[in-house]
Amino acid sequence: MIAVSEKLAIHGGTPVRPALLPYGRQWLDEGDIAAVVEVLRSDWLTTGPKVAEFEQVFADFVGAKEAVAVSSGTAALHAAMYAIGIGSGDEVIAPAMTFAASANCVVFQGGTPIFADVDPDTLLLDPAQVETKITSRTKAIMAVDYAGQPCDYDALRAIANRYGLILVADACHALGGSYKGRPVGSLTDLNIFSLHPVKHMTTGEGGMITTDDPELARRMQIFRNHGITTDHRQRERLGSWFYEMVDLGYNYRLTDFQCALGISQLRKLPEFVRRRQAIAQRYDDAFAKMQGVSPLVVRRDISHAYHLYVIQLELEQLQADRAQVFAALRAEGIGVNVHYIPVHLHPYYQRCFGTKPGDCPVAEQAYECIISLPIFPSMSQQDVDDVILAVDKVVRYYCPGRR
Ligand SMILES: Cc1ncc(COP(=O)(O)O)c(C=O)c1O
Repeated sequence: MIAVSEKLAIHGGTPVRPALLPYGRQWLDEGDIAAVVEVLRSDWLTTGPKVAEFEQVFADFVGAKEAVAVSSGTAALHAAMYAIGIGSGDEVIAPAMTFAASANCVVFQGGTPIFADVDPDTLLLDPAQVETKITSRTKAIMAVDYAGQPCDYDALRAIANRYGLILVADACHALGGSYKGRPVGSLTDLNIFSLHPVKHMTTGEGGMITTDDPELARRMQIFRNHGITTDHRQRERLGSWFYEMVDLGYNYRLTDFQCALGISQLRKLPEFVRRRQAIAQRYDDAFAKMQGVSPLVVRRDISHAYHLYVIQLELEQLQADRAQVFAALRAEGIGVNVHYIPVHLHPYYQRCFGTKPGDCPVAEQAYECIISLPIFPSMSQQDVDDVILAVDKVVRYYCPGRR
């Protein structure tokens, strides 16, 4: 461990790492590159055979009947809100502790996101809080598997059934995880994934929605293609120029070469998730013994996919706030991050939806003390040790009882 007298890098001392370790990054190998190159040499760049193939293997992987590939996780969320018919006057209950896109998608369709507070131990949507937010206008619940831990889906499903609501999972953090032995992606009516490079696997930008409902899948296929009922491959087969735009849609298509990358990455996904879990285990072991920080609680009946590894600072024990600890860790070469500013506190939501500080006190309090540490499958043992060392060094400095 670092000598007690060692100066923090922020005060001119030697940093634990000379260059910044990012909080997340992709892992691509030669097989991934070859898969993309093969498509680049073929006739199809945009919607070709790799799209349907990727959708099929993805659906099989998560145990869903259907998968619809789109251009980002945000597009996936938007398509889901379209598919279930969210419109003006409809409310969707979403957690305050998430990325803004989980709520923005409701607004895209003219609906109103209603923010519910989270559980203080897991920072997952609190089913009891959801129930207090239900009105005659509520149409759906948007659960978010914060950090990669699946929500309490039995409790949320019971509420959804009791009030006749649609249950949607923003599972962008939880691909490869499971709840009571059932894979994430098969747990709700519509399950949303992001394939951004910091996520569990990547297609560059990209997104996917899984569902068991073929009609919802069909609606999303139309939505991602301008609201047009046939794509150009079908028209070519039918030998016809004719197409109809039956609804307002977007260009949310994922390209064939991105899908080729997705197929190749998906084969390695179980290994990527295992590595994330192994890193998290080493963090857990280190932080369990460390005064001044605590990991989030992980429930026993789930398998955590660890998109993020979040620690909570025990601020009452520290002579520093989160901003100081954050800056000190960055100066030590650790690419920490904060996930998230509670969505209802963003100026847009305060201005347009009248949300305000105090609406979701648990999320707001958690926000003051959370820090996300680097976690990605290609991290070496040394990388993980450096993160633990830097957290120990900084926390020890600011924790008078430990110096
Ligand atoms: C919880 C959550 N939902 C949605 C998204 C949006 O995904 P994308 O960046 O692929 O649009 C993200 C991205 O970070 C996310 O973390």
